[in-house]
Amino acid sequence: QRYRIAAILGDGIGREVVPEGLRCLRAAAEAHGFELDVVEHDFACADHWLRHGAMLPPDWKDVLGGFDAIFFGAVGWPEVVPDHVSLWGSLLQFRRGFDQYVNLRPVRLLRGVRSPLRDHGPGDIDFRVVRENTEGEYSNVGGRIFEGTDRETVLQETVLTRIGVDRVLRYAFDLAAGRPRKHLTWATKSNGISIAMPYWDERAAAMAKQYPDVVADKDHIDILAAKFVLRPGQYDVVVASNLFGDILSDLGPACAGTIGIAPSANINPDRTWPSLFEPVHGSAPDIAGRGIANPVGQIWSGAMMLEHLGEPAAAAAVLAAIERVLADRPEVLTPDLGGPGTTEGLGTAIAAEIAWA
Ligand code: NAI
Ligand code: MG
Repeated sequence: QRYRIAAILGDGIGREVVPEGLRCLRAAAEAHGFELDVVEHDFACADHWLRHGAMLPPDWKDVLGGFDAIFFGAVGWPEVVPDHVSLWGSLLQFRRGFDQYVNLRPVRLLRGVRSPLRDHGPGDIDFRVVRENTEGEYSNVGGRIFEGTDRETVLQETVLTRIGVDRVLRYAFDLAAGRPRKHLTWATKSNGISIAMPYWDERAAAMAKQYPDVVADKDHIDILAAKFVLRPGQYDVVVASNLFGDILSDLGPACAGTIGIAPSANINPDRTWPSLFEPVHGSAPDIAGRGIANPVGQIWSGAMMLEHLGEPAAAAAVLAAIERVLADRPEVLTPDLGGPGTTEGLGTAIAAEIAWA
């Protein structure tokens, strides 16, 4: 079996962690008997912006559309290009253009990783955030009027469609139905956002009726954020709109130790287009270029990619290698995990573990 992978390194630590992700993917391919054709692309970065005045070439959809998956680092270098321009000009184009309407973000407290929460150890936190990824609060509908006057007014609309809401809810309910606890929580804020969120609640309640085995409940986003910190163990599958899901999926991993280990999958479940796998974190300009970024989020995203490609044994092997190295090799851990190690050292240790296992 042979898979064609488009690799996009992006900016900042993306350029440091993607090579470690590829190192581990190659080790997994070798050990599990399949081949990876990796093609690196040098767009979706500040450098491309400087050279071409755009984040992507005009034919990006043809260039990427034929790959089996996209392995992405992180984009953003605010000194050169404003963040809303770099993100809308690249990653958000991929998510929308390839209809990657599910952003799946596992949150697990692994052995060897210390949670900042008191009384939480390995195994106590294990849930999935399912974030709506193509509409919602991240809309382009709006604008400014009376600019430069004291009546200056700024408006940005939330867009929810029945298809868009139902398809991400269905994915989340299916996911919950397949897990031992069969528990789903949906995030809302229908007390404050009085038009969009009651609609979201209504569709979620209707979907819950189709899944009698799943225990479904809702939390307002404010208390949900508090409960992530106070009682993260009670969650199993959490489904949320684009903005709420974005926030929860940084908060969740932070509760599970560090955002540096958190993976994500931008999935097109219909498989009409390639899905995209990337860590939750960004380009981290504050630590870029120092070789100390944690590569685990990127490597774990690679495991999710293998799962999606139909290589579950290889995916499990990568995750097991991550867990063993984090638990047993404190000397290779990066500073965010409290260790003295480097990006390359941790990546190499995990790749070696994949190869030996
Ligand atoms: P960030 O995730 O890049 O960094 C937040 C904090 O976490 C920083 O202190 C950073 O050093 C630390 N951190 C992040 N990843 C780490 C890792 N692997 N190992 C160790 N520490 C790590 O978020 P921030 O600072 O808000 O954004 C920086 C840039 O990244 C901006 O240009 C932003 O737009 C972009 N960004 C891109 C994303 C993407 O490509 N998917 C997602 C989030 C932000
Ligand atoms: Mg985010």
